Amino acid sequence: MEPIVISTWKHGLAANQAAWEILSSGGSALDAAEGGVRVTESDPSVHSVGLGGARMRKGWCSWMPASWMPAPGRWVRWQPWRRSENPISVARRVMEATPHVLLAGKGAFDFALSQGFERTNLLTEEAFQTWLRWRRGETDTREISHDTIGLCALDSRGHLAVACTTSGLAWKLPGRVGDSPICGAGAFAEAHIGAACATGVGEEALRVAGSFLVVELMRNGYEPAMACREACRRIRQRSVRESLPSRPYG
Ligand code: GLY
Repeated sequence: MEPIVISTWKHGLAANQAAWEILSSGGSALDAAEGGVRVTESDPSVHSVGLGGARMRKGWCSWMPASWMPAPGRWVRWQPWRRSENPISVARRVMEATPHVLLAGKGAFDFALSQGFERTNLLTEEAFQTWLRWRRGETDTREISHDTIGLCALDSRGHLAVACTTSGLAWKLPGRVGDSPICGAGAFAEAHIGAACATGVGEEALRVAGSFLVVELMRNGYEPAMACREACRRIRQRSVRESLPSRPYG
């Protein structure tokens, strides 16, 4: 089978390149998806994922949610994580080393340390200065809030994997959970059907179980583009975007 890689946005090109190198040399979809999004997570010039990602409203580093879904796979598992440069790799470890779907909070932190991951300071000077400008009312939240990376990979054996990683909505309230670590919202994959992932305001994908919806529509015969169109139609129907103030949590 001809491998395929697709990701969500312009910064995904470097991720696609890394994933493609793995796929084209016979690597697995899982390795390709991880290898791809790690590039974006480690790039400090990307302000919404991993190193240098957006702050919460109080200025400290946000939770770093990441999720996985291989298909076929034993389960689907996710891990929201903080202060690890490559949360997607921690999420993969959760998938491979535990029977759980989701780890959060101190338990997630302790798990990562127990697996040899190092605590990393993700707050770059640039991200700190952006936060200061936001505090002074000089930065529009929407400038940097919408760039989760999701990457779907299909390998030559016909296995699918989707990885999703973000620093989450900028200036969010502590405790806010977005779509990225939630099964069927930020990412979903089903063997022999397809995979989908979401970027943008997580609340919208959460409200319609957006990634699950796209794959489920494909299962029911929709072409991928039509499935995405229908998901967008439902999001628009239920959108809270118009009711969000320009500085939603300011
Ligand atoms: N889509 C990422 C988030 O809203 O947290």
